[in-house]
Amino acid sequence: MKILALETSCDETAAAIIEDGRHVHANVIRSQADFHAKYGGVIPEMAARQHLETINFIIEEALAQGNCTLDQIDAIAATLGPGLIGALLVGANTAKTLSFITQKPFLGVNHLYAHIASNYLESNLEPPFICLLISGGHTQILHVANYNQITLLGETLDDAIGEAYDKVARVLGLPYPGGPLLDQLAQSGNANAYTLPHAKTEHPFDFSYSGLKTAVLRLFQKECADNTPSEEIQQNIAAAFQEAATDVLIQKTLLAAESHHIQTIAVAGGVAANSAVRRKFQQALLGRAGWMFYVPALKYCTDNAAMVGASAFFNPITQDITTEVFSRT
Ligand code: KG4
Ligand code: ZN
Repeated sequence: MKILALETSCDETAAAIIEDGRHVHANVIRSQADFHAKYGGVIPEMAARQHLETINFIIEEALAQGNCTLDQIDAIAATLGPGLIGALLVGANTAKTLSFITQKPFLGVNHLYAHIASNYLESNLEPPFICLLISGGHTQILHVANYNQITLLGETLDDAIGEAYDKVARVLGLPYPGGPLLDQLAQSGNANAYTLPHAKTEHPFDFSYSGLKTAVLRLFQKECADNTPSEEIQQNIAAAFQEAATDVLIQKTLLAAESHHIQTIAVAGGVAANSAVRRKFQQALLGRAGWMFYVPALKYCTDNAAMVGASAFFNPITQDITTEVFSRT
């Protein structure tokens, strides 16, 4: 089954052609990040207008890359939420119009299910597994018992980890979106130069990032009273933040897996692209016989349409489009 999938939930305009939920025939992404960087964050109205300007070209490019015509497509999918409403409407309306014209089914996709499904792309992963979903809006540990049976084991009580990365990056003077740049900066720093707090939460699988964020802000103010930090100080603060922010992800995810007697772990969402997250999980599972670790290719971590096509295939039931999709047992 070949699905043409669209993604326009935030500031990436994307189209992909996915076969049977795993094989990627085309994956086209146009990021608006450079445009929004001028304003230090995404301007929703402008994001929607830019999607509208580019979506047709992106679809044409995906069809060309996938060497196929609309006739050869079996269904058309789009992200319905959560996300920026104006931006979402562009992808959803385009997909629904194509579905109407071609008389092929329309499949609505939930963005969080799509991030989880990015792990099915070009891989053999099947449930059950524990999924750590880390993005700009979410930090959740999920028990994926089956493709459509997902339970929330824990989540952030305040900021999402991607949000914390972006805020700390801004403190350090990096442009939007700061997460990937902060990750790069951290790789040249000394994580032991400073000790930052590891947040404690009442529930063992919950997270909290607001205290860490404030601690970095105080540290920055102390170290850089004149507001022009040396490159070394910037790198060391970035490294210490990265260490504290990621340690807790690995510890809690492993604990959740052990307590559910599951030895397969997958990571999803934009922050799954983070070098420390990828390295630390691989190191932690090295030598643990029988354990499996899945992480999507970098191009499938941040928002893309390939994961939307995978989710449309594996989660074909009408998906709940609200943010609170996963509930605790
Ligand atoms: O999944 P995504 O593209 O959008 C949401 O659904 O939120 O995730 C975007 C988030 C941003 O906060 C971005 O700064 C963060 O993922 N991010 C990273 C890295 N790459 C993207 N954070 C840390 N390290 C990275 N390498
Ligand atoms: Zn996302």
